[in-house]
Amino acid sequence: MNDVNIRLLKDTDTDYKLLEKWYQEEEIYSSFEQRKLNYKEIKEKYYPRTLKTAKIPVYMIEYQKRPVGIIQYKLVDDEDKELYHLKDNYIYEIDVFIGELNEHNKGIGSSAIHKLSEFLYQEKNAKLLVMCPLKNNQTAINCYKKCGFYIKDYFNTKDTIGMIQTYALMINEK
Ligand SMILES: CC(C)(COP(=O)(O)OP(=O)(O)OC[C@H]1O[C@@H](n2cnc3c(N)ncnc32)[C@H](O)[C@@H]1OP(=O)(O)O)[C@@H](O)C(=O)NCCC(=O)NCCS
Repeated sequence: MNDVNIRLLKDTDTDYKLLEKWYQEEEIYSSFEQRKLNYKEIKEKYYPRTLKTAKIPVYMIEYQKRPVGIIQYKLVDDEDKELYHLKDNYIYEIDVFIGELNEHNKGIGSSAIHKLSEFLYQEKNAKLLVMCPLKNNQTAINCYKKCGFYIKDYFNTKDTIGMIQTYALMINEK
């Protein structure tokens, strides 16, 4: 979709306020922090991700030039490789949400995933891409399948508030 762009998240009130707004929606925070985040928490979480040295670079997703959500990536570390039963180097994990709920199911998420995947394969030497939606998040699973990811396995791990959850391990190979 040509109407979708991704650009780096900025260290600005405007970007943090959008994240704060999106983190009030249960549909959004239930896949991430399992609770609402306030402005201060948003800034603490996302400021380090706006730096050049960020371990988890974050991109704002824009639809028709308006910010609608975020997509981010990180290099999978040894602990997660063990959890996923993966061995390669240069495995990247992608996370995404469309915070504007009325913009769901318009192909925006898929388009942003395609753009970031291209970047990771071409510029970051990616060998494999991973996405880990909750097992029952059928919308996300369908969206990721559309983007060439398949379910390789399921795994249990604690979420950010310590509850054991089952996730689908979804893989995309070049
Ligand atoms: C998951 C998410 C990023 C997808 O983004 P999106 O822009 O809505 O996705 P797309 O429009 O590109 O694709 C969605 C696909 O899922 C399908 N879908 C939507 N709801 C569905 C449901 N309840 N069951 C099955 N399929 C569903 C759509 O039909 C569409 O497929 P199609 O284009 O073949 O019809 C978005 O829904 C979101 O932010 N959800 C809340 C947060 C979240 O769950 N993030 C993911 C955490 S892993």
